[in-house]
Amino acid sequence: MAQKKILIVDDEIGIQNLLTRVLKGEGYDVRSAGNGGLALKMAQEDLPDLVLCDIKMPGKDGIEILAELKQMSPKIEVIMLTAYSTVESAVTAMKLGAADYLKKPVDIEELKIVIVKTLGIAELKRENLALRQQVGLRYGIDHIVGKDPQMLKIFDLIRTVAPTPSTVLIHGESGTGKELIAGAIHHHSPRSNKPFVKVNCAAISEELLESELFGHEKGAFTGAVRANEGKFMLADGGSILLDEVSEMSPKLQAKLLRVLQEKEVDKVGGREPVKVDVRVMATTNRNLEEQIQKGAFREDLYYRLNVVTIAFPPLRERKGDIPILTRHFVEKYNKEMNKKIHGISREAEQCLLRYHWPGNVRQLENCIERAIVLCPGPVIEIDHLSPDVVQAAMRPSGQEIKEIQAGITVAEMEKKLIFETLKYTQYNRTRAAEMLGISIRTLRNKLNEYRSEEAAGEGYGPFSTQAC
Ligand SMILES: Nc1ncnc2c1ncn2[C@@H]1O[C@H](COP(=O)(O)OP(=O)(O)OP(=O)(O)O)[C@@H](O)[C@H]1O
Ligand SMILES: [Mg+2]
Repeated sequence: MAQKKILIVDDEIGIQNLLTRVLKGEGYDVRSAGNGGLALKMAQEDLPDLVLCDIKMPGKDGIEILAELKQMSPKIEVIMLTAYSTVESAVTAMKLGAADYLKKPVDIEELKIVIVKTLGIAELKRENLALRQQVGLRYGIDHIVGKDPQMLKIFDLIRTVAPTPSTVLIHGESGTGKELIAGAIHHHSPRSNKPFVKVNCAAISEELLESELFGHEKGAFTGAVRANEGKFMLADGGSILLDEVSEMSPKLQAKLLRVLQEKEVDKVGGREPVKVDVRVMATTNRNLEEQIQKGAFREDLYYRLNVVTIAFPPLRERKGDIPILTRHFVEKYNKEMNKKIHGISREAEQCLLRYHWPGNVRQLENCIERAIVLCPGPVIEIDHLSPDVVQAAMRPSGQEIKEIQAGITVAEMEKKLIFETLKYTQYNRTRAAEMLGISIRTLRNKLNEYRSEEAAGEGYGPFSTQAC
């Protein structure tokens, strides 16, 4: 950690010297000034982390200096020192943002402790701010990409639901962005400066999940050597996201229902229930109504959870978002990997648009991340995409196969397929031959054949005019 900078402001040279010596001995970078004017000038030139400031001084007094320092930068911590301690000056100093207040003659050991504590708190404040900015970057609604009408409706719903305390149930296949939405709801809620805690209900055994969610007392079960608060307590005042809630056992479903109804948690091995104030959000990629029919999910819990429902469409049903999501991920990974990829070729984009994305946005993100790693620049080409994506995208979809009509000959079908593929590859014969699984020579021969047929008046319509 960088050496912390302390500025001492005192009109008594003896105090300046004493404090400078002691604090240098503690490893701080120490400077001193005998009056307010000089202190402010020194602070302006090189912002200190902490100022030790006398109150009674000729010229500007300590309270004025404190006010000006805080105006210069609220990050500067100030500890006031005075021989003329009065309650009023202490109150004024604290109101103006002083971190602490010590009487002269200063007890050096006490001063050292107060300095460590003040700098520690300042560091925590800075870390907290940085973390909050990061969370804001990740979970701000502006960072969720989408312009498909279904996504625009979801954005509206987030804005409406976020300020309320309602529970939210988010349906959607894996990787559609459920966690992102839950994070955005928390981030735009009045609870945003309190924790957002996530628990995956499918990842661990029932016993572990129970203690993970509701906590346990020391000795509650074999191996419980220490008491554990549980995620609900950690999320107190904030929000909790229960991922894959359908995977909870009946016992835990009952306990969760109690949290939602009574706002109390029962720790494992605990004697008394503990009050909690947590907004609950849950995700599922199973149909909970079907689970209720099968007796696997409690109906009363379903109604408690399902106050607001957000149903996420899979990516294949909002393919119009693929180009902007792609741009978003190109920018993201350019920054992360310090690259300067401008974008993606038309051919590669067509491939992304044709693919069915069973892993949804997460899979697209991984595919772009991989492409950025492999792409020497400036544009992502088809060769930089995952082979699985390229091969599957090249295969005709079930839809197209259904369009094949009985009565057409194999030769006609072959011709149709060859021209469709050429159209798809923008008449790149090498690529078309690859996609068709034939040699370039065979493709050339076929095209010559079709040309001769056409010249003899046997060719049919749309293909015959293509410049291949
Ligand atoms: N609309 C979007 N805009 C930007 N990034 C997105 C979007 N949707 C999803 N992502 C990104 O895709 C990845 C997967 O999203 P997320 O974790 O929210 O999905 P999920 O539905 O919770 O998945 P799972 O069911 O597997 O838990 C994340 O990295 C997320 O940032
Ligand atoms: Mg998730």
